[in-house]
Amino acid sequence: MRDAAPQTIYLKDYEPFGWEVEDVHLTFRLAPNTTRVISRIRFAPKPGARGPLFLHGEALKLISARIDGSDVTPEVTPQGLTVAVPGAPFTWEAEVEIDPEGNTALEGLYLSNGMYCTQCEAEGFRKITYYPDRPDVMSVFTVRVEGNELVKLSNGNPAGSGAGWAEWHDPWPKPAYLFALVAGDLRATTGQFTTASGRDVELNVWVRPGDEGKTAFALEALIKSMAWDEKVYGREYDLDVFNIVAVDDFNMGAMENKGLNIFNSSAVLASPETSTDANFERIEAIIAHEYFHNWTGNRITCRDWFQLCLKEGLTVFRDAQFTSDMRSAPVKRITDVIDLRARQFPEDQGPLAHPVRPESFQEINNFYTATVYEKGAEVIGMLKRLVGDQAYDKAVSLYFDRHDGQACTIEDWLTVFEDATGRDLSQFKRWYSQAGTPRVTVEEGFADGTYTLTLVQSLAPSATTPDPQPQVIPFAMGLLGRDGSEVVGTQVLELTEARQSFTFGGLAEQPVLSPLRGFSAPVILDYAADNAFLLAHDTDPFTRWEAARTLAKSSLLTTIRHGAAPDQGYLEGIAAVVRDAALDPAYRALMLGLPSQSELAAALHHSGDIPDPQAIYDAVKAMGRTLADHLSDDLRDIYTAHQVDGPYAPDAEQAGKRALANAMLSLLTKLDDGAQAQIQYDNATNMTEQLAALACLIRADKGEDALADFAAQWSGDRLVMDKWFSLQVLEAKPDNAAATAEDLTEHPDFNYKNPNRFRSVLGALAMHHAGFHHESGYAYGLMADWLIRLDPLNPQTTARMCTVFQTWKRYDPVRQEMIAAALDRIAAEPGLSRDTTEMITRIRQ
Ligand code: PHE
Ligand code: ZN
Repeated sequence: MRDAAPQTIYLKDYEPFGWEVEDVHLTFRLAPNTTRVISRIRFAPKPGARGPLFLHGEALKLISARIDGSDVTPEVTPQGLTVAVPGAPFTWEAEVEIDPEGNTALEGLYLSNGMYCTQCEAEGFRKITYYPDRPDVMSVFTVRVEGNELVKLSNGNPAGSGAGWAEWHDPWPKPAYLFALVAGDLRATTGQFTTASGRDVELNVWVRPGDEGKTAFALEALIKSMAWDEKVYGREYDLDVFNIVAVDDFNMGAMENKGLNIFNSSAVLASPETSTDANFERIEAIIAHEYFHNWTGNRITCRDWFQLCLKEGLTVFRDAQFTSDMRSAPVKRITDVIDLRARQFPEDQGPLAHPVRPESFQEINNFYTATVYEKGAEVIGMLKRLVGDQAYDKAVSLYFDRHDGQACTIEDWLTVFEDATGRDLSQFKRWYSQAGTPRVTVEEGFADGTYTLTLVQSLAPSATTPDPQPQVIPFAMGLLGRDGSEVVGTQVLELTEARQSFTFGGLAEQPVLSPLRGFSAPVILDYAADNAFLLAHDTDPFTRWEAARTLAKSSLLTTIRHGAAPDQGYLEGIAAVVRDAALDPAYRALMLGLPSQSELAAALHHSGDIPDPQAIYDAVKAMGRTLADHLSDDLRDIYTAHQVDGPYAPDAEQAGKRALANAMLSLLTKLDDGAQAQIQYDNATNMTEQLAALACLIRADKGEDALADFAAQWSGDRLVMDKWFSLQVLEAKPDNAAATAEDLTEHPDFNYKNPNRFRSVLGALAMHHAGFHHESGYAYGLMADWLIRLDPLNPQTTARMCTVFQTWKRYDPVRQEMIAAALDRIAAEPGLSRDTTEMITRIRQ
């Protein structure tokens, strides 16, 4: 139920906890509706600790409470309990009852398909027992699980088991958000890893019976991650076992609980028949991400939730490094930038804008955002670029040495960099405190062999950053000669002023600027580059791709504004790249990608136009058709040349070939009405080929039989059926997207309580730009209906989905009015969760 007045928590109000928690013993007596949790916790007052003890606790039935063996009667509220305690160390004992089966919020202890599992980050442990549920309270946990389930797991190392019970002991002090418990009928795929210092670690991937065939890839990814973290960061694993569990009902991707990572099954289960290349890559990255948290997150954790980016930004940065090493670095960088622009830029430029380290929140679950994660990782990347690779390594080693076992802040993190490098990072710190995406404009001059580059930065004021100050922007660039040769190799300019000039002398002719190489800072570049030239010649793969993207974007914007035909220079430039067999197929496929319709809407809005979603959709379709015509002589050849023979491997090389072949198929479908797509569909031996062919068939209005066939083939596979649901929405015509989504919500397999399935329909609808923003407004209403329906059951997933409305101020008054009505209808719902209330309020402002 909604609190009378939602409370705002401020970073500036942080106060340490008054007690040390010396150790924690928990006993779980599992039962679907009446699980008993018995806790025995040793508290010791810190010097100066005063007053009664407050312990968090929500939705708990208190059965008994004792201090040093004597019964006590705490004062209990919906948020926790308060109890008078001795001024000396004491033992707190409590027994509570909880209802895992009734827990649809998927936070705390819940049942998923008959399997017990937990999710405690950020503040879910308080739904398990009374505890100081804050990340700076770290303790050693011993856990006993009692029940008839075949498998009973918790954090740390096994400490004994018998008929109906199992015990676990985790020697590493940890905050409660890293606690985990799993129990059920599970099967393990087991592997082994020996650490650099000789510790043998047993690795298990636990799944439900029937899924055993989909675990090999995750196990392999885990082993690669462990080896990589030793090699690159010198970080070893520190327990005898590492368990991974797949659960079907999970709000997020995965969770780094100490020694017992819990994964959304979509982020761990993989097989060639059921998973696409993109799924494999994502699974590898998430396995790595959660594993890397063992050091960046678990051994060194966050002092408070405002510091979330301390673990998340750094861990995303580390998993991106890992993926770059395992696969292609340029491809990884480009796909990360596409993702940043799709998810983080709209957040940074809309009503939900917040700094990488927010300074206030009502519900912390609402701050697991692209800004904290992905922009947080960009900030680490900039820091590394500014100090250099060696200094980065030195500073990070110092961080591990100095802070192992602690709960830290961004100040701690920046201080190790200052101490290791002697650099003053006070201005750099603005990346953590200022919201919004900076814009950088470029002015150029050339005289007497000297090229002058002037960079101007600006940041629009926002609610959280009313008076923005210049940031430190590492601007990587190079200069090219007219013949395409590199006359000045990549340099990182440090833009620290609002406006700053840099000169390059001794040049024979005016050079061509290759700007923001590698996307060296998360900014918007306003510069009319010579993109056709850069597309043909740039040596930096990112900037070369960016040139294609920018050309495509301006051509599309011209079409949208004036109905003009696609730009010939773009078509020719892109054709040359796509035909260039010397280039990586994955890179060529990326080159063919067009900016998203939402990104085009943002660009129109920024230049003062009101985006018309249907016109944007039409322009993108027309561009696809023109590209197909322009490349018609090559499509079939390139398609054929990139068929993979031999057994499927989910590696970058094969995935790149399939990506290019599928890009060709998509264009070919515009010319052959789906004939080739039908052949590919019928002969597909893996999901990457099957799904791509199915998408093409739907687009060619030839999807009916294939969709039915697909459903018949995969009806028993939840994850594949998620694809079946979402694809139909994503590929629907704009005037039919909402109706398609609505029909699918009436399908017998639509279960809105499962976050994956909910997102596969409603999330897909929001991703269909022209469908979601169709002039009828029908999609807005449908979305509101479902958010209202899900909120009482699962506030976290509901609140997350509210972000689909964050861009509403871009659109025309009629659409704005319809969205406002949808938002107001949600806000008026009695008993709306704190999560959703906060999101709607922030978006509506
Ligand atoms: N900490 C998890 C991660 O980034 C994400 C997560 C947050 C999962 C909150 C569940 C709940 O890996
Ligand atoms: Zn994480």
